[in-house]
Amino acid sequence: CGIVGIVGGRDAAPVLLDALRRLEYRGYDSAGIATLVNGHIERRRAEGKLDNLATVLEARALPGITGIGHTRWATHGAPTEGNAHPHGTERVSVVHNGIIENHAELRAELEGEGQTFSTETDTETVAQMVDLFLKRGMSPRDAAFACFRRLQGAYALAIIFAGHKELMIGAQHGAPLAVGFGESEMFLGSDSLALSPLTRRIAYLRDGDWAVLSREGAELFDMSGEPVEREIRQTAQIAGSIGKDGYRHYMEKELHEHPLVIGNTLRRMIDPATRRVVLPDLPFDLAAVPRVTMTACGSAFYAGMIGRYWLEGEARLPVDADVASELRYREPPLTPGGLALLISQSGETADTLAALRSLREGGQHVMSVLNVPESTMARESDVVLDTVAGPEICVASTKAFTAQLSVLACVAIGAARARGTLTDAREEELVQALLDLPGRAAELFGLGDAIREVAEVVADARDVLYLGRGAQFPVALEGALKLKEISYIHAEAYAAGEMKHGPIALIDRTVPVVALAPNGRLFEKTASNLQEARARGGRLMCFTDNSGAARMARIAEKMVVLPDAHEFTAPILHSIAVQMLAYEVALLKGTDVDQPRNLAKSVTVE
Ligand code: G6P
Repeated sequence: CGIVGIVGGRDAAPVLLDALRRLEYRGYDSAGIATLVNGHIERRRAEGKLDNLATVLEARALPGITGIGHTRWATHGAPTEGNAHPHGTERVSVVHNGIIENHAELRAELEGEGQTFSTETDTETVAQMVDLFLKRGMSPRDAAFACFRRLQGAYALAIIFAGHKELMIGAQHGAPLAVGFGESEMFLGSDSLALSPLTRRIAYLRDGDWAVLSREGAELFDMSGEPVEREIRQTAQIAGSIGKDGYRHYMEKELHEHPLVIGNTLRRMIDPATRRVVLPDLPFDLAAVPRVTMTACGSAFYAGMIGRYWLEGEARLPVDADVASELRYREPPLTPGGLALLISQSGETADTLAALRSLREGGQHVMSVLNVPESTMARESDVVLDTVAGPEICVASTKAFTAQLSVLACVAIGAARARGTLTDAREEELVQALLDLPGRAAELFGLGDAIREVAEVVADARDVLYLGRGAQFPVALEGALKLKEISYIHAEAYAAGEMKHGPIALIDRTVPVVALAPNGRLFEKTASNLQEARARGGRLMCFTDNSGAARMARIAEKMVVLPDAHEFTAPILHSIAVQMLAYEVALLKGTDVDQPRNLAKSVTVE
């Protein structure tokens, strides 16, 4: 969910709406705004995307110079207007990101005190508690502080108060909140992106901090009520308006940016003169790292899984890989001095951020591969490796994914050199393979017809199986995830060799098999697995390359033939191809490609 707030001198609602547009990546189930109008709190809310709220505001304008706004990804309660934030009473209005874990207990207590709730949300407990304290005669600041001290769980909050035209109070605990400093106006936002056109002067709160904002500035306190100072940073981010440049969807545009993004990312990490990988100065010695713990969510995790094959294969560095939501609670024994490798497009995903913190507590060096340099994870990492993908708007990740792979490939080469597991000749060969990538990736756009033919088969299916071996296995996972996300067709990915241990029972004419089988060490083994599927009436859709085409033609019903690539970089090209397939299927299905149902670009709750 995304939060924004303003105490200012201008009409708040249009500013809030504009900031919410930049926060829509955090969810788009419902949205709302509340402002102070002649001392009273008024609000407008709408179910669904932000455009619906904009329509509501057009019909019933919302004046007022102090206000808060929220865009929601539903956790407690359905994504209805009634459950949309802000929540409140006539005295107080609250927007919240996170989960108040003791809300049931607090609710019972507040109801016992005579407070009447109007929703089932955990957020309303905050509003009702502050309301009760205000009725008892506390000042807004005392009421808010007394309330914060009772809350358990993760939250970022912004609160406004009836009768207090120039006051807003915010708090952070486990979910990020930034304070923006303007000229006679002040802001709160979930991230610097929300605030970037409003001000470049930003202070990030720490967990347990709370802030009292007036037009002239902010007073910051910790949970014991002591004043604290937080550095005001000058942020670099500029949020230009981002268009589709004539493409039908952001996803189509972003798919076409693959060659550029891969090139830009590699340029940061490969010295053109020496043609060697150059990693940034590290505050630890890669050669001495005993073990890597890689973690991430969604597509970013699959990028990390591909990276694992490279790190283990080239640098002989053991890599544990687990999704962040599991890693965090699995409590794996960590080797002191180990390396935590985090991957995230947004740098804000709550599960990944929590995993980062627990890995740090476990004595690991923290290296993050991120697309947003101003993000929370960037601030909490020892080393940040930037993916130079530019803003990614489509919820389903495409170009950020291949940019992550480009970085991870360079990390593997750099680590291999540091650890002495790479000959100069091998490094040259791998770097050349990477430098060839942008050109090869551009060639993929010539495969549209072949991909569309496969898409027609897939679009008619209810279930699809994706298969791959080695580093192509995570590519299969990414392909299946992308298909689920944007076409709503059920897809599963298996390591090709594992198919015979179960999924083979699914195979018939109605379950197409998408196979990732470029030529290489594992080619014949994959081919045998595909033969097993074929023998049982399976319909094989093969993604292979020029060198593998003749062999695959004997078993495949349809083929997509990619340009030949080095085995090291082939997974990057195949990732693009399976993303293109998902896009074509989504077009045939007529789904909302850029903002698929139920998803958020970055999930900022656990
Ligand atoms: C969400 C998105 C996924 C994305 C994941 C991780 O679930 O829907 O597409 O891969 O978050 O996001 P991150 O910003 O951490 O890469």
